[in-house]
Amino acid sequence: MTTDFQSVFGAEPTTRYSAPGRVNLIGEHTDYNDGYVLPFAIDRRTVADIRVRDDRLLRVASSFDPEGGVQERSLDALDPADMDGWSAYVFGIAWALQDRGADLSGATGLDVFIHSEVPVGAGLSSSAAIECGVALAFDELWGLGLDRQELARVGQWAENKAVGAPTGIMDQSASLLGRQDAAVFLDCRSLEAEVVDLGFDAAGLELLVIDTHVQHAHATGGYAARRASCERGASVMGVSALRDLSVDDLPRAQELLDDETFRRVRHVVTEDQRVLDTVRTLREQGPRAIGDLLVASHASMRDDFEISVAELDLAVETALEHGAVGARMTGGGFGGAAIALVDREARGTIADAVTAAFAAAGHSAPTVFTVHADEGARHDA
Ligand code: GLA
Repeated sequence: MTTDFQSVFGAEPTTRYSAPGRVNLIGEHTDYNDGYVLPFAIDRRTVADIRVRDDRLLRVASSFDPEGGVQERSLDALDPADMDGWSAYVFGIAWALQDRGADLSGATGLDVFIHSEVPVGAGLSSSAAIECGVALAFDELWGLGLDRQELARVGQWAENKAVGAPTGIMDQSASLLGRQDAAVFLDCRSLEAEVVDLGFDAAGLELLVIDTHVQHAHATGGYAARRASCERGASVMGVSALRDLSVDDLPRAQELLDDETFRRVRHVVTEDQRVLDTVRTLREQGPRAIGDLLVASHASMRDDFEISVAELDLAVETALEHGAVGARMTGGGFGGAAIALVDREARGTIADAVTAAFAAAGHSAPTVFTVHADEGARHDA
């Protein structure tokens, strides 16, 4: 039997909210350095079906919960130390709203059922999709009146404090601010966002996602270590964030920093510049002209930031060998997905070539699919 709201809560939901996953076109590990990113929301969404209760209980269930059960917390006793697993994304939002100053004293309890088309662990921000769908729902159902930038900050706060992953603001911003056929050019310091038309369709292009199925987790390990290197680099260079450096500062950085920290800094500084160059190129010349920037971004993550893995490198190399306009890993790294910008007609050839290359290398089969830029979190019904 498929689990849905009715089978778990014994009644029909009264409202539905949804929010998308995201692909980052370019601008990796720049968000927590106060820099620039250019993600877009994708046409894979997480849906939250909801029914208002008449008490103060928040009860949540999900189609991807292996245990299939209902978890509940009182709105009067939300504690981030007492949240784990996927439900931390939902309870964490309620806690983060409160912690950031929202008055939930008049809020009613809710039954919430989550189901998702965003593949989990693929680096497409399935977690931000949950956070942003419920953040918008809680904001509207509890009459909080917060804007989407603040809801993105609430999502990041939940991720950082309740889930324990020291991530930046990109994923939640993409999921909340996304537009159809456009990317979100975000300044992660001011949270000012501009819409940038992608124009893939008009140029006869498609964006392929190649999910390597190599699992990553940002609550542990490499992600936090990279973030710490960036903070060390900024402090030695005497700036509050790496965003304040430009490529002209790199020779001085090389003199002052150890080799590893320097390469981490060089990735972030050059990646910020590549985001600005990509935005300008898209606007002036269209998407066919951004290929080299995508490829340079991948090389920088592979060689300087050292967050790629063999499967991601193989996906990128094979796509390029078979005619992709550009390709790079996307998201936090250490696994997850690569993206390839390809001619519509070449889609099948490139997907087959990547699958064959994975088999020949002894990697398990990747999943390859096309994504389109879609609108951000919304009230569906
Ligand atoms: C993950 C994090 C983001 C961002 C990317 C890397 O997706 O959640 O905040 O840092 O990695 O660009």
